Amino acid sequence: MARRREEPLDLSSLEMPVHVAIIMDGNGRWARKRGLPRQAGHRAGAENLRRIIRACVEFNIKVLTIYAFSTENWGRPKSEVQALMKIFARVLDQETGELNAQGVCVHHLGDLTGVDPKLQEKVRRALELTRDNTRLILNVAFNYGGRAEIIHAVRQMLADGIQPEELNEGLFSSYLFTKGLPDPDLVIRTSGELRISNFLIWQAAYSEYYPTPALWPDFGREELYEAIVAFNQRERRYGLVTEESS
Ligand code: FPP
Repeated sequence: MARRREEPLDLSSLEMPVHVAIIMDGNGRWARKRGLPRQAGHRAGAENLRRIIRACVEFNIKVLTIYAFSTENWGRPKSEVQALMKIFARVLDQETGELNAQGVCVHHLGDLTGVDPKLQEKVRRALELTRDNTRLILNVAFNYGGRAEIIHAVRQMLADGIQPEELNEGLFSSYLFTKGLPDPDLVIRTSGELRISNFLIWQAAYSEYYPTPALWPDFGREELYEAIVAFNQRERRYGLVTEESS
């Protein structure tokens, strides 16, 4: 695929969100519009992910969380699930070295149980290789669901003998897959859908939400910049009121 020429973007006047989370939606529609099989859309989506990771490093975003595969996605046709697993394996083989060179630290959110052992091994190798990097934390939500994450956390807390009076939001957060990381400031969903789809349902309680009609393979560096410009125009209130309106 031809590389788009990168326009200089003015980042100096923008406050960067520390943590950006993305629901990468619309690969299938992108392919259908071109008369291609859905798998071609997922391949284009994987290619785009590479561009967005680069842009996050350039923009000095500190944490990027991507929704790669949900607990519900196993219900897709077997051929599509297989094609997605092949893409994940290939991306891990081909991109881990480059991610490491860029200073990206890969984290996994979700449950690897039941995933093909070879793929599990590739994930573990990527986590191990990149563990000391600090430029960008890349959380890959894979076999992830927000409700399953909460159940997992509660089970762990019960197993640890946490008493009801000890429980608070900070302690609860420390049992989630995102422990130690700030909550997302900005949640982007491509392809015009207006749902949260079981993604970071605890962590995104006060995130700014940015739906965009762009299909994921078309959501590039400039579109990410536009999302950040929009984020800068938001007034974050966390349930409070501003001085003027009180
Ligand atoms: C949603 O598009 C996308 C997915 C379910 C898979 C996301 C996977 C990628 C972007 C591939 C690259 C990811 C990694 C981690 C290498 P959709 O199929 O739901 O699109 P549709 O709604 O148009 O059918």
